[in-house]
Amino acid sequence: MSERTLEILEHQKQREVEAANRKASSADHAEGTWFLQQPFAGTGMSNTRLALGEIFNFSVSVAALDPAPGDLVLDLGAGSCWVSDWLNRLLVDTVSLDIAGDMLRIGQQRLGAGAKLTTGDFESLPFPDGVFDGAICISALHHVPDISRALREIRRVLKKDAGAVFSEPGLGHASQAQSKTEMEELGVLERDIIVTELMDECRDAGFEFVSVHPYLFPPLAYDHELWRSIQQVTQPSTIFSLKTLWQAMVEMTRYGSANRRLAWARLASTIPLLGRVYSGKGARSDRQTRSSPAEKPVRPPDALLCWQSLLTLRHAVEAHPVVVAQAGKRQPDSRRPGILKGQITVSEPIWQVEAGASFRVQVKVENVGDTLWLAEPTSYGGFVTLGAKLLDTENLLIAQDYGRALLGADLAPGETTIVELTLNAPAEPGEYRVKLDMVDECVAWFEHVGSEAVVVPLTVSLSQ
Ligand SMILES: C[S@@+](CC[C@H](N)C(=O)[O-])C[C@H]1O[C@@H](n2cnc3c(N)ncnc32)[C@H](O)[C@@H]1O
Repeated sequence: MSERTLEILEHQKQREVEAANRKASSADHAEGTWFLQQPFAGTGMSNTRLALGEIFNFSVSVAALDPAPGDLVLDLGAGSCWVSDWLNRLLVDTVSLDIAGDMLRIGQQRLGAGAKLTTGDFESLPFPDGVFDGAICISALHHVPDISRALREIRRVLKKDAGAVFSEPGLGHASQAQSKTEMEELGVLERDIIVTELMDECRDAGFEFVSVHPYLFPPLAYDHELWRSIQQVTQPSTIFSLKTLWQAMVEMTRYGSANRRLAWARLASTIPLLGRVYSGKGARSDRQTRSSPAEKPVRPPDALLCWQSLLTLRHAVEAHPVVVAQAGKRQPDSRRPGILKGQITVSEPIWQVEAGASFRVQVKVENVGDTLWLAEPTSYGGFVTLGAKLLDTENLLIAQDYGRALLGADLAPGETTIVELTLNAPAEPGEYRVKLDMVDECVAWFEHVGSEAVVVPLTVSLSQ
């Protein structure tokens, strides 16, 4: 980069700082506590529209990033820090970074004494390598002059299996009236984020997996008739041919002549299928061929609906890209589980104890799922224990939390351990049952997600 270019970029950044600081200080008087209340940032109609948009944006972005309680997430271009605030309420720890100090002062007011706030620039982040479990960037990357450099920095400060989510304005943003005014009045950089370019840049910056998440706000609405038509679109071959047609058209607009020839060939291959669809003799799905030949073939409007749905999705992605860039593959653990499955074995088939006595049993447990079972207790859960429920002989629940035992150490898929469980026999003599199951604390009893619990009959006799 030439010195002149660097100078222009620096100047641009300075204007960004001044603009954000000016906005922050105007919030003190003109718009009252606007930033302190974000996303509920005003009164009346405009508040409802703006707030719902921001809340939706938060939900989609955070769901796409999928942080777990206890994670340390970097909030990039944090502004008033409302995103950090809401993440904290989800028990996610945050560091909020912004180039504008005045904005962060509002954030400080909002988050209180323990807040971790840093004035800094995306393009040279003031953190060591590999410290964050995730990063979130809402409506800020498009202001950054050198996005590739910023992405490399973000990748650098993330742990090796961490991800970053970017939720940014897309096609058409820079030409909107409001953006033009902001560029004129504040001198900020407003530009369109082109989703494929951003995805390519993420890969170039060293992210291994990059995905895009369609953003549908305000929500789509289908009337009764339209929904019925959509429900009738069941034919895989129709969808297949439309998908091929779609891919062919995308390729034709994107690549050089060699690929264009391939795209033409693909396009031609869809024509017979589409022909059948449009002539009303649509290729039948397996289900139709086997069991209900009388079902109607796909009608032209149905095929058009498929086409229209793809266009809607494409528009949603291009108008508001939500891109997740994952540094590396994330192994599921009990804070963010995949398959939770345990094999529980007891040595004694029946337990016999005196009423009120405390007794200890040894239980063998094997992790037969794909998720690492974390052992260390936390206040927000996400660690695995052995749980015991007390039932009567008809399997009706007497005590939900009859007993719990911690694992001695983390248990990886395929590993086995012995757990010691101490229980107190009921005061009343009689026949009972103890159900043993693994528990991902504050997440799920394993039985509820498809694992098998073990039931042991318990005979309680009169104490001597
Ligand atoms: C539109 S605001 C978004 C704030 C917040 N994420 C939200 O959703 O409310 C963009 C923020 O990005 C910050 N910003 C712009 N360029 C930056 C850069 N190079 N490094 C860090 N922050 C930057 C601005 O100061 C501003 O606070």
